[in-house]
Amino acid sequence: MGAFSLRDLVESRQGEDLDLWARGINPQFARVLRTIGFDRQWARAEGQYLWDADGNRFLDMLGGFGMFNVGRNNRTVRTALVEELELETPGSVQLGATILPGLLAEELLRRTPARIGRVQFTSSGTEAVEAALKLGRTATKRARVISTAHAFHGLTLGSLSANGNPEFTKRFEPLLPGFDFVPYGDLDALDAELRREDVALFLVEPIQGKGVNLPPPGYLEGAQALCRRYGTLFCVDEVQTGFGRTGKMFAFEHWGLEPDLVPVAKSLSGGYVPVGALLMSTAVHEAVFDSMQHAVSHGSTYAPNDLAMAAGLATLHELDDRRLVEASARLGELLLELTRPLVERYDVVREVRGLGLMWAIEFGEPSRRARSYRFVERMQPGLFAQLVVGPLFSEHHVLSQVAGHAMAVIKGIPPLCVTEQDLTDFVESLDTTVRKAQKLPRSMAKFALTAAGVR
Ligand SMILES: Cc1ncc(COP(=O)(O)O)c(C=O)c1O
Repeated sequence: MGAFSLRDLVESRQGEDLDLWARGINPQFARVLRTIGFDRQWARAEGQYLWDADGNRFLDMLGGFGMFNVGRNNRTVRTALVEELELETPGSVQLGATILPGLLAEELLRRTPARIGRVQFTSSGTEAVEAALKLGRTATKRARVISTAHAFHGLTLGSLSANGNPEFTKRFEPLLPGFDFVPYGDLDALDAELRREDVALFLVEPIQGKGVNLPPPGYLEGAQALCRRYGTLFCVDEVQTGFGRTGKMFAFEHWGLEPDLVPVAKSLSGGYVPVGALLMSTAVHEAVFDSMQHAVSHGSTYAPNDLAMAAGLATLHELDDRRLVEASARLGELLLELTRPLVERYDVVREVRGLGLMWAIEFGEPSRRARSYRFVERMQPGLFAQLVVGPLFSEHHVLSQVAGHAMAVIKGIPPLCVTEQDLTDFVESLDTTVRKAQKLPRSMAKFALTAAGVR
């Protein structure tokens, strides 16, 4: 057997991507990709772009579900990873302390309010949420958890129990006991739950990812005050909104919040290495890790591993160095400015909203051609948005997504290194696509429905 070469292996199996996925990973997913026309062979990625094997450049408005804030294949992070490998660091001693995890913890704590004093590393967002649930319950000696309708916190059993979208949860019941939901934005409902003084933590996304729902004025501040009043931990899930996504390093900064628990993940490693962390108050940590006997009360073999730590350190440096958080704020404003006219221009566009580079456009039944719209939405709620996402991809080479199940909302969370020109081009493509979709005759809708494989 010759020496192992990843390059040779990849080159020798060129073009088998989708078949291999269909055979060994998930045939239904491969079917979905084929039927909606997303079955491209991907050749290369850099920054905010992807290239297919035919050399077409795609603008990535999906950003790997928010893991590429510093851009795909970021040079700085890549260099740090190569350097880390070359250093042959003695990471993951397990019964020992090495330098990189401590350094990354220090950098994270430097960027958070004084209340946050400790970092528990994980390998994903859902694990960071699991840590919040588990440690939060033990620290408060309470069992209940409150989250919000339409919340998304990950798909492992604890996080799933806090998921407010039945399409994710229904088939996997029974979930964990003690989880209840309040409407996002409703402080009275939250008060009614918390006043029982048996709630360990209130788990909330500062901006809900499913649907891109922004908090009503005063909501998060009010929620924090209620948590303090009733002895409930305030847990702000920054897995998607963290690391500059909303125009601040963490979204909670927009409202001057001081949460007790902050799960983060996704972009922390620049999109290279699985990583996550629960940032928590010293008080919570000390309530759980309260003796030598309890020194290893929570953890996971690969968290923290040196590749993730190196990537994390380089990513934070890159966010600062290229002023990507400020760019996110500025470009997010621009994107809203460029898309607001669509609300006036198209009857079918109900709203555009966003904060930093977390942006959405919502459709609704127009006053004219209402029957066509209703027809499409009756067949499959959210289909109209899919009829925009499809051509955006195939005709305009923009990768985007419908913001959740059965939703007339399209979401954009591009790498923070997008340019003004990228956004201008995107809005032009969106304008053309919405114009066409709005005119969609019934026969076309039927065809699209078949093509989308939903019937
Ligand atoms: C707010 C939020 N929390 C948690 C998660 C779960 O993160 P992961 O996919 O890394 O498990 C996500 C993922 O989309 C998320 O958006």
